[in-house]
Amino acid sequence: MADLGVEFCDLHFKNPIIVSSIEATNSLDRLKACIDNGAAGAIVKTLTDMPTMATLTKHSKYAILDETGEIIKGKVPRNFVFYSRSGFSSTLYEGWEKDLKAAQVYADRNNAHIIASVGASSLESWATISMMAEDCGVPIVELNLGCPHTSHMSGAKTGVRIGQVPELAAEVVGRVTAAVKIPVLVKLTPEAANLTDVAASAKKAGAAAVTVNSRFTGFAVDIETGTPRIGGPAAVGGPWIKYVTLRWVHDIYSSLGLPIAGSNGIFDWRDAISFIMSGARIMQVGSVLMLKGYDWVRQMIQDIDAFLDEHGYGSVEEIYGMASRNAVSSYDEQVGMGGISAVINDEKCTRCWNCVDCCFYNALSRGEDKVIQNIDNCIGCELCFNVCPFEAVSFVSKK
Ligand SMILES: Cc1cc2nc3c(=O)[nH]c(=O)nc-3n(C[C@H](O)[C@H](O)[C@H](O)COP(=O)(O)O)c2cc1C
Repeated sequence: MADLGVEFCDLHFKNPIIVSSIEATNSLDRLKACIDNGAAGAIVKTLTDMPTMATLTKHSKYAILDETGEIIKGKVPRNFVFYSRSGFSSTLYEGWEKDLKAAQVYADRNNAHIIASVGASSLESWATISMMAEDCGVPIVELNLGCPHTSHMSGAKTGVRIGQVPELAAEVVGRVTAAVKIPVLVKLTPEAANLTDVAASAKKAGAAAVTVNSRFTGFAVDIETGTPRIGGPAAVGGPWIKYVTLRWVHDIYSSLGLPIAGSNGIFDWRDAISFIMSGARIMQVGSVLMLKGYDWVRQMIQDIDAFLDEHGYGSVEEIYGMASRNAVSSYDEQVGMGGISAVINDEKCTRCWNCVDCCFYNALSRGEDKVIQNIDNCIGCELCFNVCPFEAVSFVSKK
């Protein structure tokens, strides 16, 4: 069995899976369920002083769509779209004090950690709620600078409205880090122009780590009725978004070296491994648990362990950041690399013509009984190689 433990924000996590701030963490019982199912931690649904954002959650709407935009009824496939609108914790932060303490005691007993997510109405309230969480014994506070719903909520000058502007993000992070001693984790929005710039600002203002990242706002249409799904704009995510998230995990890991919690698009162990290899230390899982149940966490952890064993890795640490370190540092590097040309193996080729149909450089054409190659035209784009089902394409270096 591989060592699944990871260090994050001065704490040891027994494995790299925690539950993100979401409906599945909106009460003491739900936090306990995360821990009972093996999660190394759970982030409380965002604590707030904003009655409107608490009330919004009591009026939540959710729809699960397939890749065609139709509502999924029944078994949820891997490629679901989670389309939803909800607010922060339905209980205002003062009402959480007792349960937060109890959750922390429960977590301590089970070698897990509770993280308090905060989303506040003013600079002072960001500090007040974070201090309350610290007083309850919670070891990390996460600042929710990513909530997409605030952009459509009148008067909600929080979430994405702060996270999109590096200076505003720095102001909030600076106020909270001055107020608490525990590490401050900053949840970024993918709706910022450049997440690395916001992360850099947060780091300068004292953030210990960043969560990369929250969800986008989208707009889904029921084309039969000509109406928007669930009434209008809503947050959108799902496993399909993971590549966009990983781009920023990679970027922030490579340029800032700031510890990262990955969120947005993690469905199973494969995604978790991709996030770790891109540079995330810990993975936050959210919407998949609302669809598959809490015991999905246990399965993910077992599967990560099996992957590490099968590949001969002794620990999660061993694969941390591996793919990012293997990446080109800029596209200039690719331009400077030596050229390659595709070569077709006529014996393996079945004349399905896939490669010919997708060659846009006139390097491949249909012959009577084989693919005709014009090697001088090949730029080594690798598309023919990637579409060939018969392993009939290989490469040689260009002279
Ligand atoms: C229904 C729902 C409610 C959410 N509520 C919160 C919240 O209160 N605070 C927060 O920081 N993120 C919230 N999120 C965002 C999740 O924590 C997570 O960042 C996002 O769903 C992407 O991760 P996933 O692909 O694992 O779902 C919510 C997401 C969903 C789907």
